[in-house]
Amino acid sequence: MRTQVGIVGAGPAGLTLARLLEVAGIESVVLENRSRDHVEQRIRAGVLEQGTVDLLTEAGVADRLHREGLVHHGIELQFDGERHRVPLSDLTGGSTIVIYGQTEVVKDLIQARLASGAPLYFEAEDVSVHELESERPSIRFRHDGGKHELECDVIAGCDGFHGICRETIPAGVLTAFSRDYPYGWLGILAAVAPSNEELVYAHHERGFALLSLRSLEFSRLYVQVDHDEDIREWPDDRIWEELHARLGLEGWNLAEGPVLEKGVTGMRSYVVEPMQYGRLYLAGDAAHIVPPTGAKGLNLAIHDVRTLAEALVEWYGSGSRAALDAYTATCLRRVWRAEHFSWWMTSMLHRDPGDDSFGLRLQLSQLRYVTSSPAAATSLAENYVGLGTL
Ligand code: FAD
Ligand code: PHB
Repeated sequence: MRTQVGIVGAGPAGLTLARLLEVAGIESVVLENRSRDHVEQRIRAGVLEQGTVDLLTEAGVADRLHREGLVHHGIELQFDGERHRVPLSDLTGGSTIVIYGQTEVVKDLIQARLASGAPLYFEAEDVSVHELESERPSIRFRHDGGKHELECDVIAGCDGFHGICRETIPAGVLTAFSRDYPYGWLGILAAVAPSNEELVYAHHERGFALLSLRSLEFSRLYVQVDHDEDIREWPDDRIWEELHARLGLEGWNLAEGPVLEKGVTGMRSYVVEPMQYGRLYLAGDAAHIVPPTGAKGLNLAIHDVRTLAEALVEWYGSGSRAALDAYTATCLRRVWRAEHFSWWMTSMLHRDPGDDSFGLRLQLSQLRYVTSSPAAATSLAENYVGLGTL
């Protein structure tokens, strides 16, 4: 088998890259080790930046997103028993965010890929990448009982944080930068109308909580827990109790509903540099992770693959490697901005078990500042909706 671009991973990064290349007339093969069902049901992100929506629109995969996505113009920050609105659109010249689940983005991309007849293999086993320094890198895998080798011009490692592509790069090439947090998020999807129109990020002495949504019928809610929390310790009643305690306000009620899904996610900041080696290019969570508090992970993944697709179009079109060579530097500017913003939002809103009352007062002061100073609020807003050019 032979293709121009071999793509490992059918998450948002791999599927969007495949679509962008297809639109540009560049061939690709996508290899995913999980089933289609698994990939389509994995609940993760919910907030799309304007730039992400624009890109999916240009790529012709946003019809349902425009029909079903919920456009939001602000978020709320809650602390000291009060909610404060951050008017994102007013502060950013009209930018918005769109609430549309990652599951739905992935379903739309898979449907478009299958409709086009371009290759996408689910349940590919023992995927491995080879000859990365040569002009003919290849991907070996097993599928449907057969062994295959896919020769490529380049390989895109879009296989997430636990994938194999980054691990294949020889020792000493990559430098990793990371930060761990002493907490995680327990998230639920509940069949109940969201109790608030906009997202609420709540700072509370019992720990952070987030009220989000997937649609007008489904709420998505999170509470801060220990980083290695055992989900079995959290029957539904306990989760609701904690959500009421952290999000509760006089005169406002959090509506409960059946819990359809629940899980714990650890929090981590992580970046590798460079994001490329020979003819392998890493994109999305394969190269960097942010804690979810800034809602940046999916958006960053999409930005990486836009950069990679543009560079590949230039290379195939003119033979110039300039944009491909600059791939890491171009991506990292946005990656590090998002790393800082996500770390900052996380540190401002969570209770660190090792922190003291001095730290708590700094957090509250910072929250008061971003909700009262237009300059500080604008800084939060422009990062949250996504910075255009960096
Ligand atoms: P992934 O989605 O991880 O996709 C990688 C794919 O590669 C997977 O399908 C995997 O099965 C496949 N794969 C792995 N190994 C192999 C292999 N060996 N061979 C073949 N395939 C392989 N981001 C936001 O922007 N906004 C949010 O609101 C937000 N909220 C989040 C909430 C939670 C609870 C979590 C966990 C994450 C959240 N994120 C959010 C982050 C976002 O979900 C990720 O950043 C995003 O999924 C990254 O996409 P990706 O395609 O790079 O990686
Ligand atoms: C979500 O709806 O899943 C969500 C929203 C905002 C975040 C993180 C996750 O910051």
